[in-house]
Amino acid sequence: MAQWQRTHTCNELREEHVGQTVTLNGWVLTTRKDNHLAFVDLRDRYGLTQVVFRKADNPDLYAQAVELKSEWVLSITGVVQKRLPGAERADIPTGAIEVEAKVLQVLNQCPPLPFEVSEFDAKLANEDLRLQYRYLDLRRRSLQRTLIMRHRLCKVIRDFMDAHNFLEVETPMLGKSTPEGARDYLVPSRVFNGEFFALPQSPQLYKQLLMIAGYDRYFQIARCLRDEDLRADRQPEFTQLDVEMSFVESEDVLSIMEKLAVDIFDKCLGVKLQTPFPRYSYAEVMAKYGSDKPDLRFGLEIVDVSTEAAASEFPVFKEQLAAGGVVRAINAKGGAAAKDAKGNPLFSNTALKSGELPKIVATYNKHGLFWMKVEGGKFVGGIEKQFSDAVKETLRAKLNAVDGDLLLFVTCESEGGVAETLGALRTHLSSALKLYKNWWEEKAEHDEAQKKKLEVAKKKKESYSPVPFQPRAEHFNFLWVLDFPMFAWNAEENRWDAMHHPFTAPMEEDRDNFFKNEGLGKVRAKAYDMVLNGYEVGGGSIRIHQQDVQSRVFEIFGMTPADAQARFGFLLDALKSGAPPHGGIALGLDRCCMMIAGTTNIRDVIAFPKNQRARDLMTGAPAPVDDRQLCELGIDLTAATRKALAERRNG
Ligand code: AMO
Repeated sequence: MAQWQRTHTCNELREEHVGQTVTLNGWVLTTRKDNHLAFVDLRDRYGLTQVVFRKADNPDLYAQAVELKSEWVLSITGVVQKRLPGAERADIPTGAIEVEAKVLQVLNQCPPLPFEVSEFDAKLANEDLRLQYRYLDLRRRSLQRTLIMRHRLCKVIRDFMDAHNFLEVETPMLGKSTPEGARDYLVPSRVFNGEFFALPQSPQLYKQLLMIAGYDRYFQIARCLRDEDLRADRQPEFTQLDVEMSFVESEDVLSIMEKLAVDIFDKCLGVKLQTPFPRYSYAEVMAKYGSDKPDLRFGLEIVDVSTEAAASEFPVFKEQLAAGGVVRAINAKGGAAAKDAKGNPLFSNTALKSGELPKIVATYNKHGLFWMKVEGGKFVGGIEKQFSDAVKETLRAKLNAVDGDLLLFVTCESEGGVAETLGALRTHLSSALKLYKNWWEEKAEHDEAQKKKLEVAKKKKESYSPVPFQPRAEHFNFLWVLDFPMFAWNAEENRWDAMHHPFTAPMEEDRDNFFKNEGLGKVRAKAYDMVLNGYEVGGGSIRIHQQDVQSRVFEIFGMTPADAQARFGFLLDALKSGAPPHGGIALGLDRCCMMIAGTTNIRDVIAFPKNQRARDLMTGAPAPVDDRQLCELGIDLTAATRKALAERRNG
């Protein structure tokens, strides 16, 4: 063992070690000094330990210690001692002791770094800079905790799946495109110039082929790659818990996934979830919440007020209704009385004309936002004058309107258009009106209160052990959305697309419509989504296992039999070779991890994520390659691409 190697981690020493000589390795988190003493908080993955250097005991060592800088790598040998009364820290496990340094070895120095590795998220440097130096950002305690939690999550999943007879099977990264609704990342072949592999958007077809091969129960913690527009919950490279089962119906898949969720939340967070999770049809959630992944931690239900709108004097409503449209409303509870941080009305009449809410509406709907407020028992402002007293009373009852409420109305020629608009308003209002708290927000408040109690106790020279925060089942709003339409009309391309993916089975009851072109809009799929706190954390379906049904789907998408054979011949052949009924699901591991680790930013749960523009700011990928490599691949860049590349390179 090298003489600098540690005997303990920075989170191991307690009062029972007092008197022992130990060696610690780690990074300098902070330094403090006065004329007699120098302190270093030494940090590693496990925690931190305070090291003290006494000038009186060892002036040379003290002189070295005062020169130490943040993030230098040290080996310290010293003796464990009890901290002086009043100097203990109840908020860290090593807070009762410190190590009095006897030997200091600087294993590596570093110049001042591009940003401070802060323990406090409030002091964080800008995200692009942190992504550029991700190895520094990853030293942060909260990111380390998250990655440790992600490891735990994967371990719980593997143990559970193994105990339930699932086999983990790896599937290829270099394959043929499986349509999941995004663009493929392509890999050119050197051997067959002009031909390309597609990186998997998911292992969908491979897992179905494993069922046809008789493997019965499969899972994989699988990497998926999709070239699509990024959002806070999307990465181009992400991970799924991918699952497939033979001889099952939807109920079997839902039930095993609920059991898995119970196990995960119990073992990772100590939360006891209640099952079964509530189930809603797609039609119901779209009508009530304007979203296929509704967050039901708050109400704000959408109400159809077309009848009342028809009885109004308002031409915009009348025109839309005459054109077959709808008028729907939402009661932004307390919205008329709500104030911003400065005490000004959150939704003043001006804000309702040109603020955030009408802007949201304008992105979905050209007809605009209409409103009225309830004050002193009366309806005031906006379109209040358009309704008779009798209609207003019906609206009051239907929307459960009381003083301080703000009623928002949206209209459009299609139901889907209104649902989408009100769904977006609903989400915005829930955070503007602070209608729910994420568990980590509650934890932050709890921790702050505990810190204050600790300070008070310290002043009174009393002992106080902070109470850790425990998330509860009500922080996690799980639900299933079922009965999705099988097809969505793509007006731009003038064709039908799959709502889930083309391998999803139609419902038995809708089989007649499935085989008739006029009935396609009415066909429902045996598909299901798992939703958690407004995030789609999983999606799956029962698959088509008959070749003629699969061929019909390809025909609906406008493929000729020859096209279908060229693209999916291997699947069509396999379906004729003894395919069992089968179905499955994929959970978005990153999104599940976000909810467990306590973040709404997917980049926080991935060690080396891409930025919002799908670039790796640390390595600089994607990057140009040299002409020789391109030539081997049979690729020639166009003059326009070369020009754009040169412009990017020159900044
Ligand atoms: P789907 O496309 O619904 O289904 O994906 C399953 C789950 O994966 C997660 N997810 C993502 N997470 C992060 N970044 C992304 N870009 C991203 N895209 C999807 C979501 C989603 O619910 N093969 C089917 C599954 C099946 O039918 O069994 C599939 O991939 O949480």
